[in-house]
Amino acid sequence: MKTRVHILPVIAAAALLLAGCRGSTSEDPPIHPNPNMDTQEKYVAQRASSFFADGKAMRTPPAGTVARGHLHEDVGYFTGRNPDSSFVGGLPFTVTETVLKRGAERFTIFCGPCHGVTGDGKGNIMEYKYPIPPTSLYEQKVYDMADGNIYEVISNGIRNMPSYRQQIPPDDRWHIVAHVRALQAQGTPVASTPMPGAAADTTQTGDAATDGGAQQSAATQSMETNTTETAQ
Ligand code: HEC
Repeated sequence: MKTRVHILPVIAAAALLLAGCRGSTSEDPPIHPNPNMDTQEKYVAQRASSFFADGKAMRTPPAGTVARGHLHEDVGYFTGRNPDSSFVGGLPFTVTETVLKRGAERFTIFCGPCHGVTGDGKGNIMEYKYPIPPTSLYEQKVYDMADGNIYEVISNGIRNMPSYRQQIPPDDRWHIVAHVRALQAQGTPVASTPMPGAAADTTQTGDAATDGGAQQSAATQSMETNTTETAQ
């Protein structure tokens, strides 16, 4: 009880003092009661430096410096083209069941919405009147494309197809190419291919979706024994 009597006037005096500071200007830096290591003698990225001749705190890396994990020496693997700029002719790894499984899964996620789950070019996007129909992957010209060319289309996009470089890492792009080849080995699919689980027109969805699935697993089986040449 005794303490409370003494504290109240102190709070009142402090409040008065603080209120008195409001509105007045000062040349001094603001009071920083707890420094908390906020100000340190160090360089921060993008700041100026009085030490280096060029006045920048950041140093320019020596020519030819490559960030860790970004040394893409295997040009064919990362671009789909050989050093002489011809397309890589085969897949950079042996096609196994695991490769095809991954390829089928990635294809369904990234290509299926446009090209259809079986690659017939009638993906869900066509229900929404996409102005340019995606190419059917069973067109002769896609059969004729080198593996590296399909890889490049995925990486860079082409005409009305956007690039999938950011979404699909190089390894998965090659997996998808393997799956496209597996689909093509099956020949032209019969039904259009809504995405699995798409709530479309029920008169056709059930059968078409099942067909798509059956076709894919058949394709997977047919490719299991195939090994593709290894390209650099
Ligand atoms: C947003 C829709 C869309 C997605 C997703 C998409 N494509 Fe395409 N794709 C197209 C369209 C549209 C064309 C036709 C482009 C043109 O001729 O203007 C095309 C063309 C192609 C071609 C033929 C290229 C040529 O030289 O004519 C291939 C091969 C292809 N796509 C593969 C794929 C693969 C593999 C994927 C999945 C990684 C994929 N696409 C994802 C829309 C898409």
